Amino acid sequence: MNFVIKGNICYSVSPTEIRTVNGYAVCREGLSCGVYETLPGEFAGYTLYDCGDQLVIPGMADLHIHASQFAYRGTCMDLELLDWLNNHAFPEESKFADPEYADKAYAVFADSMKKSATTRACIFASRHAEATEILMEKLEASGIVSYVGKVNMDREAPDPLREESAEGSAADTVRWIESVRGKFARTYPILTPRFIPSCTDRLMEKLGEIQRKYGLPMQSHLSENKGEIAWVKSLCPDAAFYGDAYDIHGLFGRNHESGADVPTIMAHCVWSSDEEIARMKEQGVYVAHCPASNMNVASGIAPIRRYLNAGLRLGLGSDVAGGQSESMFRAVTDAIQVSKLYWRHIDQGCKALTFEEVFHMATMGGGGFFGRVGSFESGYEFDAVVLDDSIQPTTLAMDARQRLERAFYLSVDRDGITHKFVRGIKIL
Ligand code: GUN
Ligand code: FE
Repeated sequence: MNFVIKGNICYSVSPTEIRTVNGYAVCREGLSCGVYETLPGEFAGYTLYDCGDQLVIPGMADLHIHASQFAYRGTCMDLELLDWLNNHAFPEESKFADPEYADKAYAVFADSMKKSATTRACIFASRHAEATEILMEKLEASGIVSYVGKVNMDREAPDPLREESAEGSAADTVRWIESVRGKFARTYPILTPRFIPSCTDRLMEKLGEIQRKYGLPMQSHLSENKGEIAWVKSLCPDAAFYGDAYDIHGLFGRNHESGADVPTIMAHCVWSSDEEIARMKEQGVYVAHCPASNMNVASGIAPIRRYLNAGLRLGLGSDVAGGQSESMFRAVTDAIQVSKLYWRHIDQGCKALTFEEVFHMATMGGGGFFGRVGSFESGYEFDAVVLDDSIQPTTLAMDARQRLERAFYLSVDRDGITHKFVRGIKIL
């Protein structure tokens, strides 16, 4: 459908600049036709959504979230990563062997994603193929665009959750891919080895083969926690560094042997070495920065300024239930706040991130994983969220840029979303 939104349009034009226009954002057949102060005559016949004085922003891209952990979000804040997985994540994920449980839990998840400011997401399900397909059906119906992964894990987990063998895990993955590939309009499979400690070399080898056969993107975790990194070193003595343990199997961005593009997201990267950073840069790996999770499981603070300087591809992730909330507004302000602590306490050479930089990361940065996404510049897929920030009154007169920042800090995404469009389709 073709339409025009009138309001205060706000979007990144570069990593350091947000353009604000009191005017019109135009959508034709799912794509943006640009932003205008006065509406060009050629769009005069389009449906008009007059949003008055409200803010209109591109949708948020959440590059890392666990649907199967959504039920216990906001609890279980007592442990570091590896104990947290064993005591909280794995027991909850085990429940998704039961399709009835999956149906209930994923209904809540998909409904929350629909109501959020997120229009694009990269999602971990659990190791269960049937439940993962249930999740995909619900996400498809929600209207958001997502990549969803059936998780692979054939070691270091309790019995029913640990897959029986590398062969069994791979065969299950192929069956799942065959079942869901091409089935949906906006929900796609993504390879999802949980992380190196959960996957034997044999399984990684098989997933590399599956990647080459089906050309799927891939997502996982990387260099999140110091104990985890030491563990990977002992499990994979031949890997030069943690990320190399993925790369050995052709699962770490562009394959340096074949030159094939393997779109890859690595969550966290709190403790990446210089070598790992250089490899991510060379091979175009996306870093999903998940500040809330890094605080809650006490992993540390990722040096995002260094990654920006190195020219890495960067997006934000909520990482529920490591992170407590699916709100990407919260992820934006957390990212800014932890970068200030990093600068103050760890490295005065890494200056704090600005709102412009992190807004860009949450929209165009992560959006890049999905194509031309995260902006209203002409030719971008039209994802928009309209915000009524008057739900948080103030006596001050503010310009659109100030109101935008304030809307993020005051969590206007919670009750202030009045419309939401994904690929030009109105879903709220
Ligand atoms: N590493 C492996 N699995 C997980 C997970 O579920 N959450 C987080 N934060 N890190 C992980
Ligand atoms: Fe995670």
